[in-house]
Amino acid sequence: MKIEFAEFALPASGALVVGVWEERALTPAARHVDEATGGAVARAVQAAARFHGKKNELLPLIGPPGLPLSRIVAAGLGKPEAVDARLLQDLGGALVAHLNGAGESDATIAIDVADTVKLGPADAAANLALGAELRAYRFDKYRTTEKPERKPSLARVTIATTKPGAARDAHRAHAAVAEAVAFTRDLVSEPANVIYPETLAEQAVALSRFGLAVEILDENRLKELGMGALLGVAQGSARPPRVVVMQHRGGPPDSPPVAFVGKGVTFDTGGISIKPAAGMGEMKWDMAGAGVVIGLMRLLAARNAKVNAVGIAGLVENMPSGTAQRPGDIVRSLSGQTIEVLNTDAEGRLVLADALAYCQDRFKPKLMVDLATLTGAVIVALGHEHAGLFANNDELAERLIAAGTAVGEKLWRLPLAEAYDRAIDSDAADVKNIAGDRAAGSIIGAQFLKRFVKDEVGWAHLDIAGVAWSKKDAPTVPKGATAFGVRLLDRFVADYCENA
Ligand code: BES
Ligand code: MN
Ligand code: ZN
Repeated sequence: MKIEFAEFALPASGALVVGVWEERALTPAARHVDEATGGAVARAVQAAARFHGKKNELLPLIGPPGLPLSRIVAAGLGKPEAVDARLLQDLGGALVAHLNGAGESDATIAIDVADTVKLGPADAAANLALGAELRAYRFDKYRTTEKPERKPSLARVTIATTKPGAARDAHRAHAAVAEAVAFTRDLVSEPANVIYPETLAEQAVALSRFGLAVEILDENRLKELGMGALLGVAQGSARPPRVVVMQHRGGPPDSPPVAFVGKGVTFDTGGISIKPAAGMGEMKWDMAGAGVVIGLMRLLAARNAKVNAVGIAGLVENMPSGTAQRPGDIVRSLSGQTIEVLNTDAEGRLVLADALAYCQDRFKPKLMVDLATLTGAVIVALGHEHAGLFANNDELAERLIAAGTAVGEKLWRLPLAEAYDRAIDSDAADVKNIAGDRAAGSIIGAQFLKRFVKDEVGWAHLDIAGVAWSKKDAPTVPKGATAFGVRLLDRFVADYCENA
């Protein structure tokens, strides 16, 4: 799908989208099109019982009179004061879905809100375009026999704006976001026979073309370093583990970096504590945290973010086998702490324990955010609406929540407390990887990670198990891999870390 920006002109074919405010008030472009159709737009808008011009309402007029168009779509905009970047992104996304569903190949979107709302005309157009691009994503490379009539039809979208040049510039900045999100969605969608630690690491290495410094720590290096917790998870698999270290240096040379750490379990069978068969295929996306970190680093480099940033991804496959780790095994982590592994399915925290310790030892980051599909329990607590947020620093938590709200990737903070920490004291080692009952499972996971974080480092943990994959379409997120976290952390960096 190609996106273009142009000054408004009545198109000679295809679909045309115009905006209608709440209480059925036509925007100037809608009035213009209404005149060209002998009043058909106003008549349709008045006659449609379920169309009031509220946001999320779309009213199609198929084969309108007086114009050679396949359809006109009246798009509800709601109240002018409520129009913002997010609303326009959602509208751009909803329109792509609608027009693809209708089989349209060429569309002009003439949403001329810019006189009315705070956003300038170029930004308004660029946000429509961003939403359109985010929704147009599709992971279809393996659908070799799909019928053409089931494929997305939309080939070209022209966004009408009074400032096409400025809109194109604004869009270029957004395009890097859409590309990084698509890249992460691809990584997360790929099956585990294609994306495993070595191949995921190769994907990260390929990003050096954006100017990132990318290092891969192989199994020997991980042994030398002493990452016994991560290696214990990996030892059951025929696929050797990797740790990816990515650096973007866009800030002052002596300024400590912000760090992002991702769980990259390329497939989680549970290991010897094996998972039930039903739904196990979902565990191909247990590397979503790593996918987000890698995509985020690509984005920071692509847009030349004025910050020093480090991305670390711990990559392993969790398999049962004759060489697999057993429940009850005790491993020595990079931090020196010993861990009693009482459930081999609580593996993400083992991988992160070593990745977090490595990150702090080597980079002395000013703050550290990890992302992990860590617990099923976070889905019990928050469903698929919010990711779980844990932090040892209130300001960091608030900033992450604000960034998430701005981009529509919502976080909900859950507590950390000494009393929960008692539940992972081990009789045999320094710490055990499960509490042994079902209480507060996501908090227990976070408390475990906290044992590997130095108190002086600002740290946040995002449990993205409920939001990394979606079973239903949303305006800017088609069902499937969401890349939740890429936009949030890019926004967090832009608003709070650059030039700071
Ligand atoms: N990867 C899973 C968590 C998960 C579950 C992610 C569902 C996405 C959807 C994680 O490794 C896991 O298995 N966690 C266990 C922890 C338990 C053994 C303490 C869980 O949630 O059951
Ligand atoms: Mn698991
Ligand atoms: Zn897992």
